[in-house]
Amino acid sequence: MEENIAWEVTYNNNEACVLKNVHDCYYAGFKKLDYKKNEKPSVDYINEKLAVAGWTLKTFKRMTITSSNWFSSIVNYQFPVTTIMRSLNSSTFAEEPDCFHDYFGHLPFLFDQSYVDLLIKLSNVYLLCEDDESRELVYKVYYYIFEFGVYLQEGKVKLLGSGFLSSFEQRERVLNGDINIKKFNVEQISLESIHKDGVVNTVFVLPPFDELDAEVEKLKLSVCTVSCY
Ligand SMILES: [Fe+2]
Repeated sequence: MEENIAWEVTYNNNEACVLKNVHDCYYAGFKKLDYKKNEKPSVDYINEKLAVAGWTLKTFKRMTITSSNWFSSIVNYQFPVTTIMRSLNSSTFAEEPDCFHDYFGHLPFLFDQSYVDLLIKLSNVYLLCEDDESRELVYKVYYYIFEFGVYLQEGKVKLLGSGFLSSFEQRERVLNGDINIKKFNVEQISLESIHKDGVVNTVFVLPPFDELDAEVEKLKLSVCTVSCY
C-alpha cells in the first residue's frame, strides 16, 4: 500500500532526530502510542491508545475545519486530524498538514497533563474572544507555542512545536540556527505572521508550562470583555 511506504520513509526520516531533540513531555505518549514504523496507524488503533488519556480523534480527509470548530473540538477532548498521508516525495517537508504531522507531531503530547491543560486553557480563551482581532492574536499564540515553539536547555534547542517534529527540513533549520529565535513575548508574537506553507523564519523560546499558563491568563484578560466572566 502506497500510504504505508510513504509513512515508513517519512517515519525513518524523522524518528531518530525527533527523539534526540524533542521536549521531555513527548516521550511517554510516544511510547504509549507505539506506532509501527512500516504501517500508517488506523484511526481505531489510535483511538484505543488515546482512550487512556481521555481523547478521541475527530477525523477529516483534509483539514477543512474552521479555527473556531478546531478549538471547540479541543476543549471537548476531540483532537482534529487529517487522515491523508503526504506523498513519498514530500517525506522531508509537506506544505499541508497530513496525518504524519498530526499522528507523529501532535498526538504523543496529549498524554502529558501540563501540555493538555495549557492547550485546553488557550483553546477556551480563543472561544471566549468576541472579535476577529482577538481571535487572530490567540491563534498566533497557539501557533508559536504548539506548532513552532522551542525550549532552550543548556544552550540546546528542544522542540515542542509539532511543525518541527514532522518536517525534517524545518527541524534542520532550527537546530542549525537558521531560524531567528526570540524570547517568548505575546506582544512580539502579535507582530508575527502565520505561514500557511509551514515555513517560519522566527520562533520563540518558551518559558516553563506554569509561566506559560500565567501568560495565557494575562492573554485572557486582554482579549475578553467583562461579559467573559
Ligand atoms: Fe499542527
